[in-house]
Amino acid sequence: MSRNLSMIRDVDQHKDGTVTIGCWLHNKRSSGKIQFLQLRDGSGFIQAVVVKSEVPEEVWETAGKLTQESSLYVTGTVREDTRSKSGYELTVTGIEIIQVSTDYPITPKEHGVDYLMDHRHLWIRSPRQRAILVIRAQIIRAIQQFFDERGFHLVDPPILTPSSCEGTTNLFHTKYFDEDAFLTQSGQLYMEAAAMALGRVYSFGPTFRAEKSKTRRHLIEFWMIEPEMAFVTHEENLEVQEQFVSHIIQSVLENCGKELEVLERDTSKLRNIQAPFPRITYDEAVQFLKANGHEIEWGEDFGAPHETAIAEKYDKPVFITHYPTEIKAFYMKPDPNRPEVVLCADMIAPEGYGEIIGGSQRIDDPDLMEERFTEHQLSKEAYQWYLDLRKYGSVPHSGFGLGLERTVAWICGLDHVRETIPFPRLLYRLYP
Ligand code: 4AD
Ligand code: MG
Repeated sequence: MSRNLSMIRDVDQHKDGTVTIGCWLHNKRSSGKIQFLQLRDGSGFIQAVVVKSEVPEEVWETAGKLTQESSLYVTGTVREDTRSKSGYELTVTGIEIIQVSTDYPITPKEHGVDYLMDHRHLWIRSPRQRAILVIRAQIIRAIQQFFDERGFHLVDPPILTPSSCEGTTNLFHTKYFDEDAFLTQSGQLYMEAAAMALGRVYSFGPTFRAEKSKTRRHLIEFWMIEPEMAFVTHEENLEVQEQFVSHIIQSVLENCGKELEVLERDTSKLRNIQAPFPRITYDEAVQFLKANGHEIEWGEDFGAPHETAIAEKYDKPVFITHYPTEIKAFYMKPDPNRPEVVLCADMIAPEGYGEIIGGSQRIDDPDLMEERFTEHQLSKEAYQWYLDLRKYGSVPHSGFGLGLERTVAWICGLDHVRETIPFPRLLYRLYP
């Protein structure tokens, strides 16, 4: 028999009507004559009330058997209830248990992070984790919408690659039959080829960094969005980025009010996030840091405390531009007026969330690219295809990479990126 099920998020369309929902028992309270069932079905949460004097004896007894995370079908009348969070409550008329769950490992008491991470497959059922994953899905929707509406094409670069993109120190090695292969750190080089074919492109996929970092900003496997644009220069690249990030934030504010509330996120800080964003040069950033007691010399890269100190000056993300050529990737275009710095920018999120975007204009001159290959001891054989892009109709072009999980952490206001992805891959965690 097929059931005509409703979803919790749609109960408002059935005010005073009768619905049946497939759900799980999140929690239960009882006062002897009334049982309050907190139900969840993935689409939302709702309270269902079983009144002893108003239901057949067996319905009351069935409700009594329900334990945390038992699965069931509930039938009831939808009542408007201004006191409840969802605005609605169910007055139960029937219950059919699918399975009684025994000894659910995550109880309402406090558990340690490691314990919760070991039970991540169940932990994601909790209201807080659900809210984060719903917001992540909305961010993904907003990203696709932004690029799809602006004439970009989605292109998928390979995950198994013969060589590196962002340096060799953190590559995951694997065998590709008899050859050596690596999991991609970034699809950028392939996206450059795609931009020469389709003009404006973006990729959206997993990337891998075998980094022995155990910080709240690092994952081993993370998702990156990498747009690449032919005929676009450094300055226009920054404009796309600030519009892009503003669009994501506004879209989450518009569509995920309930979820942000579950997370107790201070949304006033997010409402502010509208283009344009402030820009400072690397030089200015170093000066500022030195003046504020940080030990840093020109030519050194910024660490997390440096980024946080700079970001604290602003209530929007800030671009740090023109880093020293020496500390950035081989493909970045030097500033024609000052070749010791490159036409690049990192976007640093507010509230201490660190770098969420890295991007640059790319070298389009074939001779300079060859020079960089020699300096960086890169094999011209392995990258012949990439050098071809500078040989056959080379054009100015730029792109960037947004880290999805750091963006989710910032928007949700989380302490650690481990909660931003369904099944995080961390330095000491490959399970579940
Ligand atoms: O700055 P990254 O390394 O830049 C690139 O890979 C370029 N090829 C992108 C491009 O121009 N197409 O990485 C880009 C972003 C960072 O700003 C950060 O948000 C995120 O990816 N990221 C990480 N997120 C989580 N865990 C890690 N280990 C990350 N490494 C980088
Ligand atoms: Mg970077």
